[in-house]
Amino acid sequence: MDLLRTVCKTIITLIKKVRQSKSYKTLEIGFKTTLGIPVRYRSPARTILENSILPYFSTQSAGSKVLFVGCDWYTKHYNKDYFRHAEYWTIDPDTAKKRYGAKYHVSSKLELLDQHFRPEYFDVIICNGVLGYGLNNTRQAEQAFNCCYTCLQPSGKLVIGREDDRHFIPFSNEELKSLRQFHPYFLPPLATSKYRIGSGYNYSFNFYEKPPNF
Ligand SMILES: C[S@@+](CC[C@H](N)C(=O)[O-])C[C@H]1O[C@@H](n2cnc3c(N)ncnc32)[C@H](O)[C@@H]1O
Repeated sequence: MDLLRTVCKTIITLIKKVRQSKSYKTLEIGFKTTLGIPVRYRSPARTILENSILPYFSTQSAGSKVLFVGCDWYTKHYNKDYFRHAEYWTIDPDTAKKRYGAKYHVSSKLELLDQHFRPEYFDVIICNGVLGYGLNNTRQAEQAFNCCYTCLQPSGKLVIGREDDRHFIPFSNEELKSLRQFHPYFLPPLATSKYRIGSGYNYSFNFYEKPPNF
């Protein structure tokens, strides 16, 4: 009886260890994303993005053209969950990320967006977690957001989610000339055009609108 108990305990410990290991996590991610099962990444910023921002744009997305910049295992389900009725695009220069991209995917940098799409193509562009993860200096950021301006239609919306830490991203959005072309956009569910996630978590979401044509 004692031997059986010891064997069971050892097996349970082993299973726990395997489940906690990095390779198990990688396997689980690969398995789930292949089967189209959502894999979620939990953080305060992700909660705001997934519970407030994406649902808001989702409700108005039928028939519209949406671009999500930079993709990974935890964003693969966004197409199905939020933009099923939109023409939903993803863009990422890392060709390995294509497997997490949408049906409509471009392997390229946001700075080159205007080489892939005609002016005023998109209704919404969502650029979360790319400043500091590839858009690392003002030259790259200015080029990228100028492209967003060109490729958004009048009254089109731009969302930028970013760390507010000068050690990580050495410039603010306010310092970028390209973003001064936009108006601030008041996002109804958050009742602001700039939402800061506090409590020591230096992250903000900034909402912009391309001026309408009169
Ligand atoms: C931290 S991940 C963010 C993924 C996703 N946007 C999100 O909401 O978490 C950064 C992603 O941006 C991509 N990226 C880096 N430089 C980029 C650029 N210049 N244009 C577009 N995507 C870029 C990276 O390859 C990576 O997949």
